Amino acid sequence: MGEATPAPEALRPLVVRTRTELRTALATAPRPIGLVPTMGALHEGHASLIRRARAESATVVATIFVNPRQFNETADFEEYARDEAADLTTAREAGADIVFIPTVEEVYPAGSQTTVRVGALTEALEGAARPGHFEGVTTVVAILLCLAGAERAYFGQKDAQQLLVVRRMALDLGIATEIVACPIVREPDGLAMSSRNVRLTPEQRAAAPVLRASLLAARAAYEAGERDGEALRTAIRGVLAAEPLAAPEYVSCADPATLRELARVDGPALLSLAVRFGSIRLIDNDPLP
Ligand code: PAJ
Repeated sequence: MGEATPAPEALRPLVVRTRTELRTALATAPRPIGLVPTMGALHEGHASLIRRARAESATVVATIFVNPRQFNETADFEEYARDEAADLTTAREAGADIVFIPTVEEVYPAGSQTTVRVGALTEALEGAARPGHFEGVTTVVAILLCLAGAERAYFGQKDAQQLLVVRRMALDLGIATEIVACPIVREPDGLAMSSRNVRLTPEQRAAAPVLRASLLAARAAYEAGERDGEALRTAIRGVLAAEPLAAPEYVSCADPATLRELARVDGPALLSLAVRFGSIRLIDNDPLP
C-alpha cells in the first residue's frame, strides 16, 4: 500500500519474546553465538559489550530483562529505566542480530522453584550490602546461558563481583559458555556509565566523579609504594569524605580472587566501593596493579 519494502537492515535486530522463539531463531543461526545479558536502559557500556560480541561472533544475541529477583529494593526495581525503542536502536547500532525481551513469566515459568546460589564469593561487598541480590543474578544468568547455548557471554568489569560470581557458577555447573570480561566504559569526567546515572540530580551528577577520584587517590598511594590495605582504604575514604553529597556504603581493598579484605597488598588487589547519593547507589572499582 505505497509502503517501501523494508531494507534488510530495518529487520535487524530480530526481536524474540518467548523461550520457543529464541530457541527457533538460534537453531539455524550461524555459530559461534555471542550472548550479552542486560537489563536494558542501554548506554555505551552495554554497547561496548555488544560490539565486542559482534567482533568475535557470527550471531550476536542481546537480552533485555529487568530481573525482579535481583532487586533488593522495590523502589529501585520500579524506577529502573525502561525504553524498549531506544534500546533496540542502541542494540542494532552496536551490532545485535537478535534481542530477547522476555516477560517475567517467560523467564520464571509458573510454579518456578529453582534458584542458583553461589557460596562465599557472594557474601562480601555487594552481597553483604544487597541481601538476595546475587541469588537473583545467578538464577537469571543460568537460565539465559541455558536458553542461548552461546559459545561466549560478555560481562562488564564494572560489576567486578558479578563477573567473578558468574564465572564461578559456570565452572561449578559445567556450563560450557566462555565468560568474557570487558573493560569499564566511563563518561569523560570519569564516572562509570550506569543506567542509574540518569536518576541523579544535577548536583549529585556533578559530585559523582568522586567515586573514580577516590579510587585514583588510592592508586596513586599504591604507586608511591603504599602496600597497607587499610591505608589504601583510608585513602579512598578521605576523598569521599570531602564530598558532602556522597554517603559511602563500603570501601574495599580485597583479594581479586576471593574478595577477602587484604591487610597487605603483596600481589594483585581489587579496590572497590559503593556510594549512595540520596536513594541512588553507585559502584566502581579499579584493579591493582
Ligand atoms: P546491567 O546492569 O544492565 O549490565 C549489563 C552488563 O553491562 C553487565 O555485564 C555490566 O557489567 C555491563 N556494564 C554496565 N555498565 C558498564 C560500563 N560502564 N562499562 C562496561 N560494562 C558495563 O548487570 C546486569 O545488568 C544484570 O545483573 C544481568 C547480568 C543482566 C543479570 O540480570
